[in-house]
Amino acid sequence: MSSDNAHWLQHGLSEFELALDGWVPGDAPAGLGQAMRYGVLDGGKRLRPLLVRASAEAVHGHAEAAMRAAVAVELIHAYSLIHDDMPCMDNDVLRRGRATVHVRYGEAGAMLAGDAMQALAFEVLTPDPGVVPVGLQASLCALLARAAGHAGMAGGQAIDLASIGMPLVEAQLRDMHRRKTGALLQASVLMGAATGAVSAAGRAALSDYGAALGLAFQIVDDILDVTQASEKLGKTAGKDMDANKPTYVTVLGIASARAQANALLEQALAALARAQLGDTRRLAWLAGMVVDRDC
Ligand code: IPE
Ligand code: IPE
Ligand code: MG
Ligand code: MG
Ligand code: MG
Repeated sequence: MSSDNAHWLQHGLSEFELALDGWVPGDAPAGLGQAMRYGVLDGGKRLRPLLVRASAEAVHGHAEAAMRAAVAVELIHAYSLIHDDMPCMDNDVLRRGRATVHVRYGEAGAMLAGDAMQALAFEVLTPDPGVVPVGLQASLCALLARAAGHAGMAGGQAIDLASIGMPLVEAQLRDMHRRKTGALLQASVLMGAATGAVSAAGRAALSDYGAALGLAFQIVDDILDVTQASEKLGKTAGKDMDANKPTYVTVLGIASARAQANALLEQALAALARAQLGDTRRLAWLAGMVVDRDC
């Protein structure tokens, strides 16, 4: 990692953690606040907030709106992980290197923490009009709602659970991955872009970048599930095979899955070049990180 990127990363993460910490209430009733804070603070790569930031920087976006978008998308992501880990879904006991929220706070506690985090995401996006223009608030809410809901993450998760033990073909798998994981990553890029001025062609190119990166991200997640240890991942390795889930690894094999991820990285970078924005260095670097990561 170049020292320039390292500095950008460190600075961006520290600003983000401070903002997020300020938003998640420790004093929500009956232990709810503690479960929320446990589920979203102190962990995770924060890829989605970094994408929002990099994309907003590329369009000289509204800084306050971009920070709120980063917090909101991470709240939705963390809520999706809390519910994903519950016994009725993937039944995982380890997340971000520690016990999952339902193990620590019970199933009802985990469900409610996720519910409250989803609502909080939209509260964060809708301050007084003097803070963020109302039109921009509406755009950010629309992008996040579509990515999180039935057409995006929740829909993809439904397909994921309905596909256990099923021999999906690649096109079906791609559709599932685009929804369950890709949509929120793509929305992160588009929310950042919405905070500034960008042409329709530039936005379309960024959308293509986000779609390619989003799919690549879940393909790599499938690969890491079989190639890395739980200690490295901070979550239980080998879960997909144990649960008999169709993945890019079970359907294509590791080598082809890896080749697909690499091809998607090329597509993402080509889309960025098409976007014709001033500075897309960070977005290019983040795309490389998505494909080269080992956790
Ligand atoms: C894990 O996402 C769940 C998927 C969508 C594959 P991340 O790998 O981004 O998880 P954190 O946020 O770093 O914990
Ligand atoms: C999760 O996919 C996607 C979400 C929407 C949370 P996985 O079930 O593969 O994520 P991990 O491997 O548990 O992080
Ligand atoms: Mg899952
Ligand atoms: Mg899971
Ligand atoms: Mg996984």
